[in-house]
Amino acid sequence: MSRAALRLSLLLLAALGHASAGTEHDQEHGGEDPPHSQEKDRDQWGVDYPDCAGTAQSPINIDTTKTIFSPQLRPIQLSGYSLPANEKLKLRNNGHTVLLELPESLAITGGYAQQYRAMQLHLHWGSPSGPGSEHTVNGRRFAVEIHVVHYNTKYDSFKEAMVHSDGLAVLGAFLEVGPRENPYYQEIIQHLYKIQREGEAVLVPGFNIAGLLPANLKFYFHYNGSLTTPPCYQTVKWTVFNQTMLLSRDQMSTLVKTLKNDDNKPLQNNYRLAQDLHGRRVLASFQTTFFLAKHVPSGRDGSDAEDNSSSSFHAGDVLAVLFGLLFAITALSFLVYIYKHRSRNARLDLLTKSKVIYTAATAENTA
Ligand SMILES: *[C@@H]1O[C@H](CO)[C@@H](O)[C@H](O)[C@H]1NC(C)=O
Ligand SMILES: *[C@@H]1O[C@H](CO)[C@@H](O)[C@H](O)[C@H]1NC(C)=O
Ligand SMILES: *[C@@H]1O[C@H](CO)[C@@H](O)[C@H](O)[C@H]1NC(C)=O
Ligand SMILES: [Zn+2]
Repeated sequence: MSRAALRLSLLLLAALGHASAGTEHDQEHGGEDPPHSQEKDRDQWGVDYPDCAGTAQSPINIDTTKTIFSPQLRPIQLSGYSLPANEKLKLRNNGHTVLLELPESLAITGGYAQQYRAMQLHLHWGSPSGPGSEHTVNGRRFAVEIHVVHYNTKYDSFKEAMVHSDGLAVLGAFLEVGPRENPYYQEIIQHLYKIQREGEAVLVPGFNIAGLLPANLKFYFHYNGSLTTPPCYQTVKWTVFNQTMLLSRDQMSTLVKTLKNDDNKPLQNNYRLAQDLHGRRVLASFQTTFFLAKHVPSGRDGSDAEDNSSSSFHAGDVLAVLFGLLFAITALSFLVYIYKHRSRNARLDLLTKSKVIYTAATAENTA
């Protein structure tokens, strides 16, 4: 069994896996234009806020065939994110989103070249009929996206930081529907009914804020962009995590249906559409093309990213790997079989030979 043949079979099986995974993705595609009047306003942002019409805007679509693998991107490290229940946080409906104010003790201490303090977090979502993340990955929109907004500790305040090119860092992550209630998100979702109208706020007990982000902070995309709402300052170093999180169907439905906007209409589809990259580079802390990467001519190189079975690899990939493994095991047992067969023959040969020698020896003795 030649190495080339084995490789070819693996490739074929992987391709099959990808083809079947593709149909799943398509069901997740949202409409390209949210059916709400808010979208009209978004086109006009550039009039009052010139940055909104700039060339380094967010969100973007992340095309994983074009991201640049950058091994020097270290895992994001958080500190002070676990808050005691007696520390109360303000949760607010500002008419555009639900926003949780964060104490300054929360910080990003690793993964970025500088230190950033947390300011607030908020969510973007769709409607009962479609997803509403801001960033998309290979054209796919996810149900919900969380943004945890930080500012550089070298500035005295968020206001001062947000006008400087190295001022802000936002951590973004996607949420999808899963089988279980998410206890961390429940700490927010259970209070939404108290802040249905714009401007309403409630104090909620502290909890482990890190639970709102993926467990795996090693795999992410990184690029230079902007705030996704006016004034759209182009001062955000974005981190978008590859691992997604899950909410139960009920949690998702509560999030999407409970809040009202400034028109007293359902607050839905509060996401901005993907903006042009204008030549910007998007880095990845891991190899996005998985094990197929080695065979696709890409001109890039690097070591394999350690797969820690995050939810970020799709069913198709898993199937492909399983089939590949199965094939490898079959090939291996075949080789072992041949080897055993051969060595048994060899042993038989040896036995016959030694018999001959023995016979020869006795013949000699009797001689
Ligand atoms: C982001 O901007 C900084 C400063 O201009 C630059 O050094 C860095 O390379 C940029 N990052 C990416 C991913 O292009
Ligand atoms: C994570 O990375 C994989 C591999 O490149 C990609 O197929 C998948 O779409 C990514 N998912 C997210 C949420 O970034
Ligand atoms: C996987 O990740 C977890 C935490 O994220 C870590 O404790 C564990 O050692 C990792 N396992 C491997 C095989 O890398
Ligand atoms: Zn946001």
